[in-house]
Amino acid sequence: MRIFTSITQWQAFRATVKAGPLGFVPTMGALHRGHMSLVEACRKQNAFTVVSVFVNPKQFDDGRDFEAYPSDHGQDLGRLKQAGVNAVLLPDSAQIYADGYRFRVTESEFSQRLCGAHRPGHFDGVLTVVMRLLNLVRPDNAYFGEKDYQQLQLIRDMAAAFFMPVNIIACATVREADGLAMSSRNQRLDTGQREKAAVLYAALKQSESATQARDTLIRQGFEVDYVEDIADRRLAAARLGNTRLIDNVQI
Ligand code: PAF
Repeated sequence: MRIFTSITQWQAFRATVKAGPLGFVPTMGALHRGHMSLVEACRKQNAFTVVSVFVNPKQFDDGRDFEAYPSDHGQDLGRLKQAGVNAVLLPDSAQIYADGYRFRVTESEFSQRLCGAHRPGHFDGVLTVVMRLLNLVRPDNAYFGEKDYQQLQLIRDMAAAFFMPVNIIACATVREADGLAMSSRNQRLDTGQREKAAVLYAALKQSESATQARDTLIRQGFEVDYVEDIADRRLAAARLGNTRLIDNVQI
């Protein structure tokens, strides 16, 4: 497995990769089984698999959340090597944002709702970094989890709007035994919060309406950002203490 911390060295290497199709899994590290399911799908469907690990500062609306974001490069690299990944990009912020973030991608409608309404600038940060990473990696296929459903839709729409030559592939949410969606942020829950966290999925799935799900969550001590039904999905974000959890189910 080749590891690149330098974008220039990665670009020189990328020009030599002739094997195709090339698949890409962008991540912010602290890899769990959810990420590894994306890597597995990518490995199965592509001749060459690239993973990036970059905690993107521009998508955090809250500096404390950025500082507290878990990171363990040693463990991540071990997992990726074992999974048979061909190349890993570990760029730093100075290289990704050499322009000082003067140029960015903004979506003006769907990104303003749901998570976007509660996290100003979040989706500008996500779309901008994904655009930059896709331009660097030039994959045939790129893999994203359905857990971040709004993100997935926005990335799909961005790829279509800019005629980007990449297939955006959605992978199902991976859950703990009690239904909690896998997330790097779950590590921050204390024992009591961890037990309660499974209520999020149960409430979304079992409630007859978004309002009923919201009421259940509030009763159980969640601070609810939103619960909304959009088309065939019920989406929610809610906090337990300082930890913000998101999830969505098909309805
Ligand atoms: O879903 C994530 O982990 C991030 O939002 C992504 C797509 C890697 C962009 O930083």
